[in-house]
Amino acid sequence: MTIEKQKFGHTHDGQVVDLYTLINDRGSVVTITNYGGIIVSILVPDRQGVLADVVLGFDSFEGYLTEHPYFGAIIGRYGNRIAGGTFTLQGTEYTLAKNDGDNHLHGGVTGFDKVVWNVEEIASAADEARLTLRYLSSDGEEGYPGNLVVTVGYTFTNDNAVKIEYTATTDRATVLNLTNHSYFNLQGALSGNTVLEHEIMLLADQFTPGGAGLIPTGELRPVQGTPLDFTKPTAIGARIQEHYDQLLAAGGYDQNWVLNKEQASALTLAAKVYEPLSGRVMEVQTTEPGIQFYTGNFLDGSISGKGGVVYQKHAGLCLETQHFPNSPNQPEFPSTVLKPGEEYTQTTIYSFSHQK
Ligand code: GLA
Repeated sequence: MTIEKQKFGHTHDGQVVDLYTLINDRGSVVTITNYGGIIVSILVPDRQGVLADVVLGFDSFEGYLTEHPYFGAIIGRYGNRIAGGTFTLQGTEYTLAKNDGDNHLHGGVTGFDKVVWNVEEIASAADEARLTLRYLSSDGEEGYPGNLVVTVGYTFTNDNAVKIEYTATTDRATVLNLTNHSYFNLQGALSGNTVLEHEIMLLADQFTPGGAGLIPTGELRPVQGTPLDFTKPTAIGARIQEHYDQLLAAGGYDQNWVLNKEQASALTLAAKVYEPLSGRVMEVQTTEPGIQFYTGNFLDGSISGKGGVVYQKHAGLCLETQHFPNSPNQPEFPSTVLKPGEEYTQTTIYSFSHQK
């Protein structure tokens, strides 16, 4: 397998950012930039062997400097929302940026999606190629405590799997919830079609319903009998228009599902997506307890992406493996606290294949 580096562009303050191209022996390709750790493209075959790029984004670096909804990016320090942009940890109240109404979203104004990451490792072997990025988030950044050292390793394999491994350590207690915000369209990002005919299965018997500002209320609700039941493969569009409070509030799917786990932090299958026209399949495995299944409800045709394609509502779907939103204010949820001496780890694998 090979990995190549080329210049991608430079930021407004003149930092050069690169694009890394990982190619496997089947000719499948993944490109990643060290700006925001963004996955720029994933080219994988359909049932006829035809490659298509299955993630939304832009053709050139300049696109990523414009206002966009986190296409392909690493999200940190905290994926999804923290109510009121505030939390209390070890008796101290911390105030974060409110960049989503009254709430904090996806790490704040300058989250991990908008910083330049250092390249720690570029490696290739017979069966895989790997890029490892590193970022030091200083004490107080976006209001969070602790100097946090984060690494994100991307491994692309000969069997068309993209494995993302996150680690972090801190010198003061903090909260942390890292994820990736790729928007997938298995028909291809250039198709211009929505994901409503994709079928999805989520290995989750419960979800955390959102209340005001799409923030979990604390309740764990069974999916059974609701349009959020994806325990069997179901077309995304089959029930998305139903008059169900959660769908109406979010304009589609945008909730956190509670993954069925016998053992916390075990790497297990979380989701499987199938696109009938191309036959492409994506499976998501993760060590995380939750997954935000988001159907691009805020895409509204105002952004033109790769090939000039206009990203309409539901043009892509996100499967953000994560701890639950607002956990720092929900003591019943699995903890997102990281203390000095501990190591945060999270592993998520997006594997691509096809069916007849
Ligand atoms: C996440 C959130 C959504 C939205 C998108 C970004 O998926 O859950 O509500 O904020 O990110 O547009």
